[in-house]
Order: sequence, then structure tokens, then C-alpha cells
Amino acid sequence: MLATIPESLQEKIEKRLRYYEDLGIRLFYRDRAAAPEVLSAPSASAPTTGPSSAEESSLPKGKSKVEKPVTAAPTAQVIPVVKPSGASLFEEVDKIHDDTLLKIREDIGDCTRCKLHKGRNKLVFGDGSPAAELVFVGEGPGADEDMQGLPFVGRAGKLLTQMIEAMGLQRKDVYICNVVKCRPPENRTPEPDEVQTCSPYLLRQIDVINPKVIVCLGAVAAKALLQTTRGITQFRGQWLEWRGRKLMATYHPAYLLRNPPAKADVWKDLQKVMAELGLTLPKKKSS
Ligand code: URA
Repeated sequence: MLATIPESLQEKIEKRLRYYEDLGIRLFYRDRAAAPEVLSAPSASAPTTGPSSAEESSLPKGKSKVEKPVTAAPTAQVIPVVKPSGASLFEEVDKIHDDTLLKIREDIGDCTRCKLHKGRNKLVFGDGSPAAELVFVGEGPGADEDMQGLPFVGRAGKLLTQMIEAMGLQRKDVYICNVVKCRPPENRTPEPDEVQTCSPYLLRQIDVINPKVIVCLGAVAAKALLQTTRGITQFRGQWLEWRGRKLMATYHPAYLLRNPPAKADVWKDLQKVMAELGLTLPKKKSS
């Protein structure tokens, strides 16, 4: 029981539990012997991920951490692997109140916080409805986006627009943004320091919009939001709970352009999103 643990340690544990809860992780087991990076359903008997072994060793031996599951996470099918380094990201954002998209854009300003600004033509903040129930998060702007200052307007963007319309929505009904707001050179994958620098703004955007559902387009978005190192194929198409909201990762439209058969998987995922949002398939026009 927590009452038998020294107060300073108790505070530490409570803080860490709040952090896990923010990430949608609510099941803890006393015995975490087999704690390699495991993705597991709450119903399965496999242990969930917990503090790193270094943190484990800072706890007194023989004292239980948490005796019983706290509460079940009803929507989470998969517990992502959590890197402790993610804590500060969420904590910082949680301190911000009365935020707006305008404030976030102003805070970003003419950003030079990471090296991506050097090759930037236009910063790509995001586009769509500030009251959207559905937010799509991509990786970062490409050449077309960098020229226009708008997300997903190139080839991959056209495919995303078709996907949105196939769901019976229009781009203006959803919100679209990226993990990094400036184009990486040669469209390379954003580097960890770039993702880390830009992520607080993404988190703030999502918090302000407060959508019912977040769809991560590709591994970069999924890894950034879930703070996981797991490959996207291990949790693609599964509902996860993320800061009190439902999140699903699916393949990036650019991947679909290279690998069209994967469109079937993405369509299955988007149908789950439609069901969650109470959307029905648009009626076919009669000829
Ligand atoms: N790919 C992305 O991830 N984002 C964009 O805005 C465009 C292409």
C-alpha cells in the first residue's frame, strides 16, 4: 500500500502514475519480471510496461509498487512502450491553460528553434476546422506544403483528401497537421531533436481542438504521440487511448502511393474511425 512507503517516494510514485494515466496506461502489476518492450491487450496476462529498470531499482526492494490494477482502460487495446523521457513533454503542455490555435501559432512565431528552419520556405502550422472531431497527424511538410504553407497538398495530400471524402467528410470538417512544421531537407524523416522541439506545439494543437479521434498517419506521428519505439505494424488499426482521447495509427498516404495494396488496410482502419464518429458511407450517385 502507498501508506507504507516514505512520503518522498510516495510523491514520486504518484507523479509517475499520473504521467502514465495521461498516456492512457492504467494497469499495473506487481510482478514485472518479464518487462521487455511488450505491446499487450489489457485482457491478456502479459505485464504492461512500467518504469525503466533503472527507475525500478530506485524503489525499495520487497515493497510493492502498486498492489492492484488502478482502473481498466476501456478503449486501449494496446499499451504503447513508454520512454520516460516523454514525461516532460506532457507535463509542460499540461501547465498551459486557456490556449488557442492563434496563441500557439504566435508562440511558434518565425521559429528558429531547430535546424529545419534553415531550409524552410513556409512554416506549415495546420489546416481545417478548429472544432474538428477528427484530427489527422502526418510527419512533416514536403515540397508542395513548404511552398504553400498548407499540410498535405501534394500527391500524398491528394490521396488523403480522397480518403477523407470517402469517409463522407471534407477537408474543412477535419484538422490536418504534422509532427514537424518545417520541411526536412530532401523529405528525410524528421530527426529526434526536431520531433522533440516541435512536439509541444502539436500537443497543444490537439488539446485545443480536443477531437474525439486522432489518426496518426505513419510511424513518425504514431511514435511521436505515443512515445513508443515499436513499429507501426504492431498496433496499426487498433484503438489506443491517448490523453483521454481515441487514437489510431494507420499507414501514411505516401506509403500507399508506393504500396497500393495497403490501401485496403487503411480503408478498414478508416471505417473503424467512421463507426466511432457515427459516420455512414456516402450514398452512391444513381446514374
Ligand atoms: N506528408 C506529411 O507527412 N505531411 C504533409 O503535410 C505532406 C506530406
